[in-house]
Amino acid sequence: MKKRIAIFASGSGSNAQKIMEHFKSNTDAEVVLILTNNPQAYVLQRADNFEIPSHIFTRHEFYDTDDVISLLKNLQVDLIVLAGFLWLVPQSLLNAFPNKIINLHPALLPKFGGKGMYGDNVHKAILEAGEEESGITIHFVNAQFDEGEIIHQSRFKIEPGDNLEMVKFKGQQLEHQHFPKVIENLLKKMRS
Ligand code: GAR
Repeated sequence: MKKRIAIFASGSGSNAQKIMEHFKSNTDAEVVLILTNNPQAYVLQRADNFEIPSHIFTRHEFYDTDDVISLLKNLQVDLIVLAGFLWLVPQSLLNAFPNKIINLHPALLPKFGGKGMYGDNVHKAILEAGEEESGITIHFVNAQFDEGEIIHQSRFKIEPGDNLEMVKFKGQQLEHQHFPKVIENLLKKMRS
């Protein structure tokens, strides 16, 4: 049976798109659900385009009920992928899917992680700190923001004169290039 992936995203979902593309005709795994806390998120449109079902949930549903867990269990999800999802994962969800939730972060953790460190905030902080390199981190999720075991990192050079857009672009290219493959490799390991 194919491994079943659920993706959580809060915004545009360009990474969700790359993952859906990658697994569209894959024989070993498939994306079965897109979940979001944001009814306006463009990721919902992307899910529609791939004819993948989506689910919008509220803060109350996510933190005070087991509805999301039940949905994921009923769909027999093997791996939960956070791709630009901005809420902290509750302990109940971590317990229900131990070592089966991963996150993408747009920096070289443990640097530039933690609460409030998402999207442009991360890149701004990196530029303000005068860093000469940045990159991406894919890691297991635990109860703290950006602190679980690291699965993959890749890096790029920040050239003198690189602005926010440039750093963001370089990071996004690495994300799109690596995230789907890292997921595929992780699923292969989970199989054995
Ligand atoms: C990605 O750059 C991801 O690394 C970041 O949000 C962006 C989502 O882009 N995640 C975080 O900052 C998590 N702390 P996308 O919606 O186009 O995939």
